[in-house]
Amino acid sequence: MSHIKLVNIVGARPQIIKASAISRAIRNHYAKDITEIIVHTGQHYDKEMSEVFFDELEIHKPHYNLGVGSATHGRQTSMMITGIEEVLLKEKPDCVVLYGDTNSTLAGALAASKLHFPVIHIEAGLRSFNKTMPEELNRIMSDHASTLLFAPTNAAFKNLMAEGFRPENSPPYTIDNPKIYLTGDIMYDNTLFFAGLAEKKKAHFLEKMLLTRNNYVLATIHRDSNTDDIVRLKEILVTLKSLAEEKDIVLVMPLHPRTVVSLKTRLKSFYEDLNNCAHIKILPPVSYLEMILLEKNCRMIITDSGGVQKESHFFKKPCIVLRNETEWIELVNNGTAKLAGADPDKIRTEFLRFTDTPSGHKYPGFYGDGKTAEFILNEILLMFEKE
Ligand code: UD1
Ligand code: UDP
Repeated sequence: MSHIKLVNIVGARPQIIKASAISRAIRNHYAKDITEIIVHTGQHYDKEMSEVFFDELEIHKPHYNLGVGSATHGRQTSMMITGIEEVLLKEKPDCVVLYGDTNSTLAGALAASKLHFPVIHIEAGLRSFNKTMPEELNRIMSDHASTLLFAPTNAAFKNLMAEGFRPENSPPYTIDNPKIYLTGDIMYDNTLFFAGLAEKKKAHFLEKMLLTRNNYVLATIHRDSNTDDIVRLKEILVTLKSLAEEKDIVLVMPLHPRTVVSLKTRLKSFYEDLNNCAHIKILPPVSYLEMILLEKNCRMIITDSGGVQKESHFFKKPCIVLRNETEWIELVNNGTAKLAGADPDKIRTEFLRFTDTPSGHKYPGFYGDGKTAEFILNEILLMFEKE
């Protein structure tokens, strides 16, 4: 097998977590075959949105940090493209690996494909069918600039076929003759790997937070559609606050900085009310091990996050999705995730249903066998295998 150099592009919190699955698999199984270069665009930069994950998940510190930071979409993406292009011209990798659907993903896809470096897209094919979401545009464009596309679910694989990708394509694969795979989800690899470790390493975290197992609800909110529209944001939070009080249950919310900025600047006195409410615990973003511990031991999850929706399934918890649609449609079809948007009546109905009705829910294995990262790396290596 030939030795390859792979550039991993990360930028946002979930990408660092996803890349850890690939890094770990390289370290454990392919150290002789693959040299990994990590490029961090700097899209997320607060310690608790970035550095904490490198430390905790034992990923190599980024070889390059482009330090792009926050900006409007065009400005942020263009600065990333400039920085990534420079790195790729210097490193001349065999391929570029991208995760998910952020601006860092799109920037990587454009920079790499135009320089003719094969793009490998992990989490390909997911669609919300809502192009007002920045992520939907990022996904579609990144997929169509890719050479190997790893779809985590059946639905994602079918979406790719519906857009003209052909499963029967044969090697050599190129951007014009791409290969699509149905894999599993590398986030599931991570949950299997880290859940036990979280219990050991964070043994006293719940006690420290004064939380009792199974007696709190975990919520995260960060989507632009929920945080930038303060009417929507307030409606969601007013509803959650009244439900927590009514059912005498604690609502734990590790909040994304974006949400805190909106609350502090545009809903100041309401934010104070939330902080003073005995049933609400607002936390800064927590580490991944802390987060999965919170997920594993909660009663229910309420979120607009993609990753957290899936983790609700991994930990067999019902989930209210604060969006009108989801890319992880199998969760909704399974009845264990309910789309509620920001509609107080829907949130209330699902909340009461999930707290009052005995569960009996089933959580089938939609997301692979926990060895998705190894599968992906093996396929990448095969692409470069010399005849
Ligand atoms: C981005 C992704 C989104 C993903 C999310 C994961 C895009 C278009 N969106 O959204 O798909 O679900 O990451 O968390 O790429 N901020 C800080 N500190 C940080 C990072 C952000 O204060 O370290 C604040 C800034 O006010 C910034 C805002 O959060 O303007 C939004 O950050 P940005 O990276 O643009 O988008 P996210 O909402 O994080
Ligand atoms: N996460 C975390 N700490 C937090 C909130 C989330 O470690 O305070 C993890 C979560 O467990 C999941 C990932 O971050 O693995 C999801 O990222 P996020 O919700 O920011 O983005 P999305 O998945 O919606 O793109």
